[in-house]
Amino acid sequence: MESIMKAHLPALTPVRLLGLLFASAATIGTLAAHAADQATPRPEPVPFVAPRNSDMPAGPEGELIDYGRRLMVETRRLLPNNVGAAMNCTSCHLGEAKVPFASPFVGISHRFPQYNPRANRVVTLEDRVNGCMMRSMNGKPLDKRSREMAAMIAYMDWLSEDIPEHGLVQGMGIGKVDTTLVPDMENGRRIYVAQCASCHGAEGQGLQDAAGEFIFPPLWGDLSFNIGAGMARLYKAAEFVKTSMPVGVHTDGRLGQGYVLSDQEAVDVAGYFTHQPRPDFPAKVNDWPDPSKRPKDARY
Ligand code: HEC
Ligand code: HEC
Repeated sequence: MESIMKAHLPALTPVRLLGLLFASAATIGTLAAHAADQATPRPEPVPFVAPRNSDMPAGPEGELIDYGRRLMVETRRLLPNNVGAAMNCTSCHLGEAKVPFASPFVGISHRFPQYNPRANRVVTLEDRVNGCMMRSMNGKPLDKRSREMAAMIAYMDWLSEDIPEHGLVQGMGIGKVDTTLVPDMENGRRIYVAQCASCHGAEGQGLQDAAGEFIFPPLWGDLSFNIGAGMARLYKAAEFVKTSMPVGVHTDGRLGQGYVLSDQEAVDVAGYFTHQPRPDFPAKVNDWPDPSKRPKDARY
């Protein structure tokens, strides 16, 4: 402790000193919790329950939560200065981020702050939102003190309200595929043409209505997610596609969709569309500072 204090002394105000003391106490707490973790098993994920929109509280609190919900669903229209892609948060976090295995936000507030291997540091929920803003939405981060950020967080907090502190929920994440499979790009192209192009376009450009609004989002090209997005990674994309695409083929699964393709087919079609041209992400040079944390489907 003495050496830490000496090293930081010139910049220390009493408030920062107090913060530092608490931070070290918190580190010790985390270490103790970590040691306890190894003895006690990880808590069981609880059943998935998402609240109904009609149960939002009345008054300013409910207004903020509902604004957050709208920002997720109409991100491009409501935040034109921040969003570069023809996409909304719910293009990937399906159904108002309330659908199991489509990266739902139920319980998420309890799971952050969280260690992020791509950044090799602990990130807050606000950082994670801005991660998707800059990469998946190919846009600019939101000011963390803005009403828009507060609203998105309020919506996530509301979706997490009935979930215990550990935040583990059945149906979190985007599902799994066998990551030892090697993609067959040519078969991927055939699957794309047969099962995806009718909605996402022959050139992956998505589908617009007469007014220019996107009905189906683009999978590649200038208006899609950039190379730094999780969806640009082969196995992440395959997991999403296996679980949630193509839309509306049968009556089982999420939103009556998904679970049509085998793991191999999902990997093939994901291999095909993730490797098509898309916007660059210059800040990618800062990703995976610890090379041992770099996943095998990282694109750079
Ligand atoms: C192109 C698809 C895409 C879009 C659009 C997108 N995301 Fe994501 N997001 C992902 C993927 C993929 C993950 C990682 C999921 C996983 O690994 O389980 C993710 C993860 C997250 C997480 C962490 C989830 C967790 O369970 O830890 C948050 C929070 C998040 N996104 C917020 C947003 C917000 C807010 C927006 C809109 C501003 C957005 N995302 C837009 C694809 C997308
Ligand atoms: C019937 C139309 C339809 C078909 C067919 C379809 N999708 Fe989608 N796809 C959607 C819709 C709609 C969304 C956005 C979800 C939303 O807005 O509710 C979406 C979202 C996506 C996304 C995330 C957003 C983005 O643009 O990157 C990916 C990736 C995706 N689809 C891949 C596929 C693949 C691969 C296939 C073929 C195996 C496929 N889809 C077939 C309608 C379709």
